Amino acid sequence: MKVPFNDLSRAHEPLREEILRTIGEVIDDGIFIGGERVSKFESNFAKFCRKEYCIGIGNGSDAIELALRAYGIGQGDEVIAPANTYNATVAAIVAAGATPVLVDCDDYFNINPELIHRAITQKTKAIVPVHLYGRTANMNPILDIANSFGLRTIEDCAQAHGATYLSNITPIGETGAFSFYPTKNLGALGDGGAVVTDNGEVAKRVRQLGNYGQREKNVHEIAGRNSRLDTIQAAVLDIKLRHLEDWNNQRKDTACKYHNFLSDIDIRGLIHSYACIEDVSHLYVIQAERRDELRGFLASRGVETAIHYPTPIHLQEAFKSLGYKKGDFPRAEQFSKEVLSLPMFPGITDREIEYVSGKIRGFYSADR
Ligand SMILES: Cc1ncc(COP(=O)(O)O)c(C=O)c1O
Repeated sequence: MKVPFNDLSRAHEPLREEILRTIGEVIDDGIFIGGERVSKFESNFAKFCRKEYCIGIGNGSDAIELALRAYGIGQGDEVIAPANTYNATVAAIVAAGATPVLVDCDDYFNINPELIHRAITQKTKAIVPVHLYGRTANMNPILDIANSFGLRTIEDCAQAHGATYLSNITPIGETGAFSFYPTKNLGALGDGGAVVTDNGEVAKRVRQLGNYGQREKNVHEIAGRNSRLDTIQAAVLDIKLRHLEDWNNQRKDTACKYHNFLSDIDIRGLIHSYACIEDVSHLYVIQAERRDELRGFLASRGVETAIHYPTPIHLQEAFKSLGYKKGDFPRAEQFSKEVLSLPMFPGITDREIEYVSGKIRGFYSADR
């Protein structure tokens, strides 16, 4: 048996006709940038996130960068971010002109609020918490710190569409940035992103920044650029948004099944989750000391896995100039050596989940 790490065709197959018909309608309309279909998706996604405004952006990286810039954050400012995240979070801070300041993670893979204080300086302007793997960062202490130091929070929600924290849906604070990269919980048929916010001024400025800095046609107030959600992508996302809750439930159900099959095995980090959050299981990440051996064992038995992420941000060549060194963020470094993401996608079958779990059990029982 072969189990892919991801298979997008299973979620798309039942929607294929509707998606193709809708793309045909967009071609007939002849409106490929902006228009009512983009506004409709923006309004529906804002509603889904229980926020006032949603602005479609070209991708999730730009969404983070433009949100930071909309708050006036840039050159000379410091922005706090986790050491355990995807490169794009930190690259977006750099793209905004600001300096990323990294913080190690807690037991749940996300930024550790207890370590944020010591990273704050006179130059700190914002925190970018990341809701990694589908579970929110521990937002209450983070928002408390942000409030007491007068910092902005821009949540990186790229992996957490619909995740909740104390019944609040992401973004938990004022503003969040989403990616609609195809494999995300809500994914486009290409690149896409959005900024979601309750702040009307920020919404206006993000829209302007992503549309050549125009206030109105040919009136360029600020040096913006072009980063918009295409009409075809917005139309497809609007169809897919109606299925997001169901897909998230399938992911949660899969996580539950993996957990039940594997809970008696000594794999650290298996059920890590705060009690007060609802994890949307973007990824199902286990933590195994002999990760690479386990990964090879699974691969040889047809199970595809992935690593999110093999190198923490501070050890990436791209961020060498930040001046960090090995040992600076021990938790992130440990995770990078031990995390393994199991197959997780809507449409995965019980047989596949059992097969994957069975092989993992096989790996550990061979030890005994
Ligand atoms: C945590 C995180 N932040 C940011 C991004 C960037 O999103 P995009 O690929 O749409 O630019 C991604 C997605 O790849 C991500 O996983």
